[in-house]
Amino acid sequence: MTINGRPVTSPGTSVIWGVDMIRVDGREIPGPSGRTYLMLNKPFGYICSLSDPQGRPLVIDLIKDIPHRLYPVGRLDFDTMGLLLLTNDGEWAHRLTHPRYEVSRTYKVTVEGGITDGAITRLRRGVMLEDGPSGPSKTTLVRRGNTRSIIRVTITGGRSRQVRRMMEAVGFGVVHLIRVSFGNIQLGDLKVGRYRHLEQGEVTDSKRLVGMT
Ligand code: URA
Repeated sequence: MTINGRPVTSPGTSVIWGVDMIRVDGREIPGPSGRTYLMLNKPFGYICSLSDPQGRPLVIDLIKDIPHRLYPVGRLDFDTMGLLLLTNDGEWAHRLTHPRYEVSRTYKVTVEGGITDGAITRLRRGVMLEDGPSGPSKTTLVRRGNTRSIIRVTITGGRSRQVRRMMEAVGFGVVHLIRVSFGNIQLGDLKVGRYRHLEQGEVTDSKRLVGMT
């Protein structure tokens, strides 16, 4: 048995059911709310739908030992990696992805060639996409090289393929796209293909962000 990931070694260890994460033989004991909040570091080549007629790998198949049916919070493209939240809390998922709550998402974007200052300025101001303006972004240069460059882009919208389309609009092809944060929640050093329960503080802060507390 583990409590918040630490093995229990002494009898009579106290826990708060619903606050502490209790696992027996690796299986989570759900709290009284029965709510589960996970983050996965999504690998390349997985899809976020719950089924796929083409038989491609599903992110949901990476989640084992969880006694609830979980759903991805929004979507990442087949070829996008990084932070994907999964939950059975429908209200939380709905609010985090609804444009009204303007929850920010940050992406580390590797592009072909040397990104120009002009392209970065245009990304910051926002670009026109076929379904309307992207809105401004917070874009910073991480590294500029002749063959590849890396930028960090923070947007508040979650429209389909938004970052890829923004990069296309400024004339740079995407090599890798990794989501590194969603609202207050950071991917950190979670390994690709691995998942973990969110900490209580991460859940509480994200609920506060979308007016749930
Ligand atoms: N923007 C994209 O273009 N793709 C994603 O998967 C997420 C954001």
